[in-house]
Amino acid sequence: EFPHLFNTILINVTSFFRDPEAWDYLRDQVVPTVVLPQGHDQSLRVWVAGCASGEEACTVAMVLAEAMGRDAFRERVKIYATDLDDDALNTSRHATYTARQVESVPAELLTKYFERVGDRYVFDRELRRSIVFGRHDLINDAPISRVDLLLCRNTLMYFNAEVQERIVSRFNFALNEGGFLFLGRAETLLTHTNLFLPVDLKNRVFSKVTRGRVRDRSFMFPLPKSFTNDVEPGVEPSLSGAAFEQSTVAAIVLNAEGLLVQFNERARTTFGLNARDLGRPIQDLEISYRPVELRSGMEQAAVQKRVIIHRDVAWNPPGASSATLEVRLIPLQNDRKEVLGIMVSFEDVTQMKRLQTELMTFNQELETAYEEVQSTNEELQTTNEELQSTVEELETTNEELQSTNEELETMNEELQSANEELETINEEL
Ligand SMILES: C[S@@+](CC[C@H](N)C(=O)[O-])C[C@H]1O[C@@H](n2cnc3c(N)ncnc32)[C@H](O)[C@@H]1O
Repeated sequence: EFPHLFNTILINVTSFFRDPEAWDYLRDQVVPTVVLPQGHDQSLRVWVAGCASGEEACTVAMVLAEAMGRDAFRERVKIYATDLDDDALNTSRHATYTARQVESVPAELLTKYFERVGDRYVFDRELRRSIVFGRHDLINDAPISRVDLLLCRNTLMYFNAEVQERIVSRFNFALNEGGFLFLGRAETLLTHTNLFLPVDLKNRVFSKVTRGRVRDRSFMFPLPKSFTNDVEPGVEPSLSGAAFEQSTVAAIVLNAEGLLVQFNERARTTFGLNARDLGRPIQDLEISYRPVELRSGMEQAAVQKRVIIHRDVAWNPPGASSATLEVRLIPLQNDRKEVLGIMVSFEDVTQMKRLQTELMTFNQELETAYEEVQSTNEELQTTNEELQSTVEELETTNEELQSTNEELETMNEELQSANEELETINEEL
């Protein structure tokens, strides 16, 4: 009861410049030394994971705008602020705060970046436009990619070690080489220290460990419920994630760079994919050419923004019965019709194919039987006609016999009367 109550009360707690010392460190050490030296035309991507009511996203926007200037900020920066809680996201989107909420904003920044409307403070509209608030479940959803700075403060602590391990692994995947992770004061990277190096432990700033290929990314899938923390704050498992994972059709997801970012249970068992394959370029994986060549279709699907279908694909796995697959390459698009990646589904149509073949054979047999019946019918008709004519012939013969009989009878009568006449003459003589 107590942890639940504790979480219910504290789960959305946040504030501008929470832990000011850590923000000073970020502003003075991380922003100038790492973020700014990037090319002037290069975009800067920031992910605020577990943003609650948006104060943290506004804080990082102000820090960057101060460092780069408004124009460069507007042109180069994109801040993705995500949370599981829809109510908190709605509040974030309004970006309007009470006097009490903005108390922790330094006075000069408050004047510069907030407009007072009545008794509320509205966050700078220009800066606000660079922030995209969206729903994202850290446990179940694939991470936002190519991020330069990732803030996930006072959120990891709600998950148990196993879940944290998985999320941290995804964070490694999400960050660009040289990217930074900024955690909350009460948090530390419990595990997977091989994926991040502490830059300043006190302020919880970590840098991504650059690896040719991170092989240990087993955490892109929706987790079984048993993995999640017992004191998880009222979080429902993502329905779409569960649906994808448990689909009876094998499916994989590739991001815009052609890296394998997700696959479901059926794909795992059908094609022997495993966690090490996540994050690898598709061309490095057997699935890119077996059971069917995928790469040209992927390009076609992405460019033409339409589903490409390979029908009747033979699949002969060693040691298992062969199957026929229908492979679909589906471009995944956002609201603006931009292609974010490709989903490839492998539907086992063996049963359907078998039924189709059986139906065709049956149809052919039916047609042959029909033709046989037809010819038998015609034969019967001919026989019938022959019989008819035989009957008619017989009838004619009968009539002829009848008339011959009648003639014979007449002759007989004539002979009889001639006989009688002869008898009379005989008597007279
Ligand atoms: C204490 S707040 C932290 C807010 C802010 N980062 C800060 O440090 O001030 C924790 C946030 O994590 C969010 N959260 C909890 N579980 C989550 C999950 N599985 N995925 C994404 N966000 C989650 C909650 O909705 C809440 O807004």
